Amino acid sequence: MTMIMAAASREGKKLNDTLFEAGAAAQAAIKTYGADRVINGTVGCYAGDDEQIACLPVVEDIYRQLPMRDFIAYAPPIGLPDYRKAVIEETFEDQQPDGYTGAVATAGGTGAIHIAVANYSEAGDAVLVSDWRWGNYDSLCREIGRRVQPFALFDSERDFNIESFSSAVSSLLRSQDSLLIILNSPANNPTGFALSYQEWDQVLQVCRFHEREGKRISLLIDIAYIAYAGEKNEVRTFMKQFSNLPEHIFTMFAFSMSKGYTLYGQRAGALVGLSSSQAVIDEFDELGRYSARTTWSNVNRAAMTLLTTIRSDASLMKRIDAERKAFYEVLCRRAAIFTTEAEACQLHIVPYHAGFFVSIPTAAPKKVSQALNEDLVFAAPIALGIRLGVCSIPEQKMLGLAAKVKKAITACP
Ligand SMILES: Cc1ncc(COP(=O)(O)O)c(C=O)c1O
Repeated sequence: MTMIMAAASREGKKLNDTLFEAGAAAQAAIKTYGADRVINGTVGCYAGDDEQIACLPVVEDIYRQLPMRDFIAYAPPIGLPDYRKAVIEETFEDQQPDGYTGAVATAGGTGAIHIAVANYSEAGDAVLVSDWRWGNYDSLCREIGRRVQPFALFDSERDFNIESFSSAVSSLLRSQDSLLIILNSPANNPTGFALSYQEWDQVLQVCRFHEREGKRISLLIDIAYIAYAGEKNEVRTFMKQFSNLPEHIFTMFAFSMSKGYTLYGQRAGALVGLSSSQAVIDEFDELGRYSARTTWSNVNRAAMTLLTTIRSDASLMKRIDAERKAFYEVLCRRAAIFTTEAEACQLHIVPYHAGFFVSIPTAAPKKVSQALNEDLVFAAPIALGIRLGVCSIPEQKMLGLAAKVKKAITACP
């Protein structure tokens, strides 16, 4: 279709809304059959066993107490100074790598990814992503004239596929001088997978090899779900490996308050940069400030204040740690029912370690999700399979779910 009023260059832009469609179908079924009979696995927010979106209690307490001026005043485009410092601390906790760091406040993790793509990949170049991935990476790259190039996340042993990663990096760097790589770990969306310490080491070896050949590599680690991946310092041990990397390997972390603070709609996050070079961080701060000012201007001041209030008070920190742990344990219990039953009925699922989602591979995602609808189960059809949000399915409804998925998969060869 040619454009009517819009610029010719915008032709064909359309958001892939299969997720929205699946969610709408679930809502329609709830209306017809009642919430008790429907399993809605399309949602990406944490809900308690009452199936209502949940807020961490300490977040609600503190947020409601903030003065009105925190909600209405502008903030600096790069973010409030205390917030920038506190998000760096939260990104690394006790596992802070050696090096210089910087942080730019962003409109959620999405904004962090936008700033990274805009400033650390060349227009027209490919950004490396895994085949199992959050679909929005594609739109974020395409929107500003980049392509995505996927590599296979898993090998035949269902470990990180270092061969596929390495050959994709080599192949792209034959025609590109620089490369941005996006990896979402731990608690990967859509799979729940996490790279091990050794797998990160292998990733860095590949990066170091190409850096020695004169290439520039930027790694963007999307940690959107890290607050529900396990003990906070344990899940960050891999980060120490990013100490003292050569100047032309730049590490960034996409930090989000959406999940870790249950503030999805409040739109706060940060892009955190780490480098052995102060000059790289100075450049990062300047570019981030510019991108923020020209994209959303500045982000939710109250959300930033909330984070610094909690992090600067030991008793509030104790509370948030305990409350996140309680959510994490609920997720583990729900996922354990599914993975145990999947094994029992020989349903092949993607390796789940932690997080909001489990995924089941299938060559016919749409068909399988439609077949599941017959049993009043609603899952998100994604590129390589179907995704179920254990974040919002109550424990009781997890029982017997794997068998229903197995039935739908078997019915759609
Ligand atoms: C993998 C991943 N990264 C980043 C985000 C960013 O979320 P937000 O922009 O709400 O922080 C999401 C949200 O669903 C996600 O699934």
